[in-house]
Amino acid sequence: MSYDLIVIGTGPGGYVCAIRAAQLGLKVAAIDKRGTHGGTCLNVGCIPSKALLHASELFEEAGHSFKKLGIDVGTPKLDLPAMMAHKDATVKSNVQGIDFLFKKNKIDPFFGSATITAPGKVDVVLNDGSGTQSLEGKAIVIATGSDVANLPGITIDEKTVVSSTGAIALDKVPERLLVIGAGVIGLELGSVWSRLGAKVTVVEYLDRILPGMDGEVAKQFQRMLEKQGFAFKLGQKVTGVTPNGAGPVAVSFEPAAGGAAETLEADVVLVAVGRRPYTDGLGLEALGVERDTKGRVAVDAHYQSNVPGIYAIGDVIVGPMLAHKAEDEGVALAEILAGQKPHINYGIIPGVVYTMPEVAAIGQTEEELKAAGIEYRAGKFPFTANGRAKANLTTEGFVKVLADAKTDRVLGAHIVGAGAGDLIHEVAVLMEFGGSSEDLARTCHAHPTLSEAVKEAALAVDKRPIHI
Ligand code: NAI
Repeated sequence: MSYDLIVIGTGPGGYVCAIRAAQLGLKVAAIDKRGTHGGTCLNVGCIPSKALLHASELFEEAGHSFKKLGIDVGTPKLDLPAMMAHKDATVKSNVQGIDFLFKKNKIDPFFGSATITAPGKVDVVLNDGSGTQSLEGKAIVIATGSDVANLPGITIDEKTVVSSTGAIALDKVPERLLVIGAGVIGLELGSVWSRLGAKVTVVEYLDRILPGMDGEVAKQFQRMLEKQGFAFKLGQKVTGVTPNGAGPVAVSFEPAAGGAAETLEADVVLVAVGRRPYTDGLGLEALGVERDTKGRVAVDAHYQSNVPGIYAIGDVIVGPMLAHKAEDEGVALAEILAGQKPHINYGIIPGVVYTMPEVAAIGQTEEELKAAGIEYRAGKFPFTANGRAKANLTTEGFVKVLADAKTDRVLGAHIVGAGAGDLIHEVAVLMEFGGSSEDLARTCHAHPTLSEAVKEAALAVDKRPIHI
């Protein structure tokens, strides 16, 4: 069977690449060994975790802020199996959506394990046991994503020592959850179980949470999580995780800077120390496809590896491991293959942590600007001064806009607060158009909205906010 494009891996990078290529008239095959399309994101990542984040947030609100709003539902009762069923149904409807989109775009799907046997040739050992399907393609895209990174000597059994995959499928609320890693996964899934009643302790190697995000935002966000019941052990290196049958798991750690070791017991341990690019079984060694020191496929500006006709996108190449980055690369590569000249602005990729409150970032942080020696002005506005936030009881957090001191061009924005993940995009669009903080401040924002806090932060860059 012969194709213009064979996509290996149907996560957000691969399936979007397949659809865009089909829209542009290419004949496309898409292979995945999972048995459903959508990759980590739809099956065990972004989508199921957001279903649980939403449900657990409402559970928490029903027990706390509802009363202040004049709604007395008594003491809310958790029905964990029903919450999990909601999550599973959400996953199912999303992955089925991709089946529909593949049909609509006349993309041939294959469920099985793919090996690139030679440039232009892929063998798929089909999941249904019916044998091996050989495919030929003018272009092959590796979109196989990433897998959980583990620490040496730790065995993840997905029951008491879990990765994110096990942490979205626990059958009861652990009394004590110990999270290793204060990154995005640790804080999101830690939030889910904290809201449902677990005592959550996060052990982090660095002396701060959310590495890479704006320092001031991270510091304030840590305080908010502590108010919610999180305990943090920062600057600590985990040295061992010892399960004990049906009993608690012992986690040992010691100060990263050296010092006395400590041990904590937990009912469940979540290992959330990052992800690694996943290329197992593709046959890349035999083909001589180059990889970098982190195991990522090395690609040129057109996503092509050193072997002509073999391309790679998403988590398996350099850059943030984010679904939306992978999607944009999928679109860009399809357009390149169709002869167009797309471009991704890697400086303007939003990052969002879907906790309550949310954390969102675009562009550069204050730390990055300082390190680059760029002079900037910062404007900040707290949600306590936003009318809508008061009405919603979501006054925690602030918006910060960073603009070039000379040109006023917006260089970054950082938000911690309810709805931050949606609010950040007006700054993303502004930055795509090279806008200034004055442009943002002079744009009429509807009242009463949380987005007025973004406008006020832009006004604050010029020291003239109205409401503080
Ligand atoms: P991460 O890279 O965000 O955080 C891992 C954390 O573990 C870091 O803070 C690191 O310093 C810490 N760590 C590493 N080794 C340690 C040790 N021995 N002891 C204690 N702490 C240690 O990785 P995470 O949270 O696992 O997420 C994986 C990937 O998935 C990331 O690239 C993330 O961006 C992505 N993701 C994105 C989401 C979103 O955009 N909302 C949601 C979930 C995942």
